[in-house]
Amino acid sequence: MRGSLRVPGDKSLSHRAALMAALAVGGRTRIENFATSADCASTLACLEQLGVAVRRQDTTVEIEGTRLALPRASGASLDCGNSGTTMRLLAGLLAGQPFSSTLTGDESLSTRPMRRVIEPLAQMGARIESRAGCAPLVIHGRQPLAPITYAPPVASAQVKSCVLLAGLNADGCTVVIEQTPTRDHTERLLRWFGVEVATTEGSDAHVETEMNAAPMSATMKSDAPPLSSQAVHIALAGPARLAARDCILPGDISSAAFFLVAAALLPRSDLMIRDVGLNPTRAQILATLNALGADVRIEHAREQTNEPIGDVRLRGRDGLAPVTHEANVLRGSLIAALIDELPVLCVLGTQVEGGLTIRDARELRVKETDRISAMAANLRALGAEIEEYDDGLFVNGPVPLRGAPLDAYGDHRIAMACAVAALIANGKSTLAGADSVRISFPEFFVLLDSVLER
Ligand code: S3P
Repeated sequence: MRGSLRVPGDKSLSHRAALMAALAVGGRTRIENFATSADCASTLACLEQLGVAVRRQDTTVEIEGTRLALPRASGASLDCGNSGTTMRLLAGLLAGQPFSSTLTGDESLSTRPMRRVIEPLAQMGARIESRAGCAPLVIHGRQPLAPITYAPPVASAQVKSCVLLAGLNADGCTVVIEQTPTRDHTERLLRWFGVEVATTEGSDAHVETEMNAAPMSATMKSDAPPLSSQAVHIALAGPARLAARDCILPGDISSAAFFLVAAALLPRSDLMIRDVGLNPTRAQILATLNALGADVRIEHAREQTNEPIGDVRLRGRDGLAPVTHEANVLRGSLIAALIDELPVLCVLGTQVEGGLTIRDARELRVKETDRISAMAANLRALGAEIEEYDDGLFVNGPVPLRGAPLDAYGDHRIAMACAVAALIANGKSTLAGADSVRISFPEFFVLLDSVLER
């Protein structure tokens, strides 16, 4: 695998930039390098249905701000497609609007857990109907919402972001307490749009001194559950004012990950991926690849739209051997930091000395598909040796793979992980449901072809 490429704009940031631009004052926000993913198109379509003016040309999107008040209720239901981020973040926005909305999704999204957002939004005063905790969701908004202090029971950036976005329309200080840190794009982008977001880590004492300066300190002291040393408090005061401000988005490191793993697995590779987002809450994949014996380097590190960005170069080696004895086990807080990269890391595990163990990753079972059983089935079909656990799996390595019929189970990241596995397998594989790559990375197969040397 040789050459240089760019991957499409970051999916997580594209959703957030569109939603925040729609809430802004001061007119139009221009977003460059907006994701080409079908998921982000779902977010734009929902905003348009709510009366937001959206103009799109290729990867440039312009959105007119509505001063926190979305123009109108949508007559029809809002179709979030396959996108959990659209449904959970939009739910936060709609909870604070003075009308009712119905959110629907495709077959996969309609089975994914939504109580994790229904509960905090109900505490804030919205009334939400669901089908046993799943979509369709009918959201009866309330204005203003009541501010809450909320510690999500699962490590989820979508839940955190839902509560923070609802907090923009609340009357007072909303606080999210994370036991395990998750991607912090919402916090960074809110600051880019001029909202004061206080983030504090560590002991109570530290929080108090940090927070005494901020208007939200009263809420922090009275309502917050005791902190563990890892806990992070994220606080903002509503009603908030977002100021329209143009954004340039980085390439999606979760899309780049498929190319990096493929290059790490193919000897004599030399691959450069330019302008990739390197937010520390997303870039763990680079450290994990190096710990498992790959050669990854960052070049031209810089900042753009309040996010770290740079070029990533990977040079292939003959064989992958872990650098430390802990490197073969991914668990604890590493899981949230690698959540979307775990399927392709399973593929890497088949070729690493000592294999790869993934634990504490039960969340993988409620993604677009059950990613633990999907990867176990596909890798076994290719001849890999897998042990499946409730909360993860063990992939033995190094084990030679041979071509086989594979199935994406309609899940974009399973499709791309399978494609990488098929590349290193001996013989031909076929992949059912390959078109699911359009959800996050429509250009995947064309770009892959462009950097493969035969
Ligand atoms: C995302 C958060 C993660 C991730 C998803 C995108 C986000 O989901 O898996 O692809 O943009 O906030 P969870 O919040 O369910 O962990």
